[in-house]
Amino acid sequence: MHPWISLTVLICGIVHTELSTAHPVITYSNVTGSRTRVKAVLSENFPDPSVIQVDGVWFAFATSGNGRNIQIAASSDFVNHKWKLLKDLDVLPDPGPWAVNDGNIWAPDLVELVSLLCRRSIFKTHRHQDDGSFVMYYAGPHVNNTSRHCIGTASSKSILGPFAASREPFACPLYEGGAIDPAGFIDPRTGNMYVVYKVDGNSLNTGGGPCNGPGLDGYYPTPIRLQQVSKHDGITHIGEAIQLLDRGPNDGPLVEAPSIFYSEKYGLYFMTFSSNCYSTDLYDIGFAWSTELETEFNKSTHPLMTTSMGMVTGPGGADMTLDGRFALFHGTVGHDGSQPIRYMYAAEADVTGFDMVVAAIL
Ligand SMILES: *[C@@H]1O[C@H](CO)[C@@H](O)[C@H](O)[C@H]1NC(C)=O
Ligand SMILES: *[C@@H]1O[C@H](CO)[C@@H](O)[C@H](O)[C@H]1NC(C)=O
Ligand SMILES: *[C@@H]1O[C@H](CO)[C@@H](O)[C@H](O)[C@H]1NC(C)=O
Ligand SMILES: *[C@@H]1O[C@H](CO)[C@@H](O)[C@H](O)[C@H]1NC(C)=O
Repeated sequence: MHPWISLTVLICGIVHTELSTAHPVITYSNVTGSRTRVKAVLSENFPDPSVIQVDGVWFAFATSGNGRNIQIAASSDFVNHKWKLLKDLDVLPDPGPWAVNDGNIWAPDLVELVSLLCRRSIFKTHRHQDDGSFVMYYAGPHVNNTSRHCIGTASSKSILGPFAASREPFACPLYEGGAIDPAGFIDPRTGNMYVVYKVDGNSLNTGGGPCNGPGLDGYYPTPIRLQQVSKHDGITHIGEAIQLLDRGPNDGPLVEAPSIFYSEKYGLYFMTFSSNCYSTDLYDIGFAWSTELETEFNKSTHPLMTTSMGMVTGPGGADMTLDGRFALFHGTVGHDGSQPIRYMYAAEADVTGFDMVVAAIL
């Protein structure tokens, strides 16, 4: 073994095996285009799921529900309907002094902070270490106006929490409608760390339509922004946030729920996102791509997943694994009043050049 490799093993744990079992064994429910309804991997109201793997165990975190600010579920194999809701865990008991603690926390995302030395091997094997600490990003209602959300951060030594919230919000452009749907991203090309999020402009819309739109003044912008952060805490800002995307005429009131990954094979950054209103069947998953990270992305001309594809109703809120191969997302199975009941689904994605497809729903 090269001395550099053995040093990495010493510091980061076992970082490479040819027979790595980190990837799930896939049982295909069905493939894109079959128009066959597919089963959820977790039949609980579990909106906006995010995915992280820690020591071979997959964890999913979701919007408030089941009496918890943040919901958490776990699976040993990612698919095959073996996800279990960990109902007893209270991972974010307090969202911080700037947020109202009334069980209305949205779309959490988690990142493990690891040393730069370990990071390269993690990208090769998709194996995380348990000696780092975790940072959680989420959106909470602002104390000065509960109809606007801002993004908060919280830290924990354990993936199971409890996470301790920062005193100040991470991003809080109240005059633009607030900010929601944060997702951490570590650029494998540079090791730099970022948080991508949505400016919640549709909370300013004054119409009576889905997600408040459109009013007499039309739709407010809902820019997707990228903020570089310190690799050491995942929280401290580096420079200003920049815009990667915004809603267009085909997006209804909004674009939201961004998740970024880098395709090493094609040298391209991909972003999945949702368009239209989450409470309607028009909610969908689209994607955009870019040759550079810190610039406007190109939206694809066709969506990744829609209700009309016949497999899942109102698919959205997707979060990709670091390598872009797998995703968790939600689909609507019914309504409780005006609120959709959203179960969790899993998919395998595939990239060819500038194109991205859902290869299968698992
Ligand atoms: C998947 O789709 C194919 C083609 O439409 C269909 O024949 C098959 O029964 C489906 N499989 C499952 C597991 O739903
Ligand atoms: C709420 O508004 C008050 C009055 O403008 C201000 O002093 C306070 O800092 C605001 N709270 C937060 C958390 O921004
Ligand atoms: C709070 O936000 C809502 C929706 O954006 C807005 O209509 C309302 O005027 C705001 N209230 C205050 C007190 O700023
Ligand atoms: C967007 O697409 C155009 C046309 O293919 C290309 O010239 C441009 O570089 C792309 N932008 C990014 C950021 O990759």
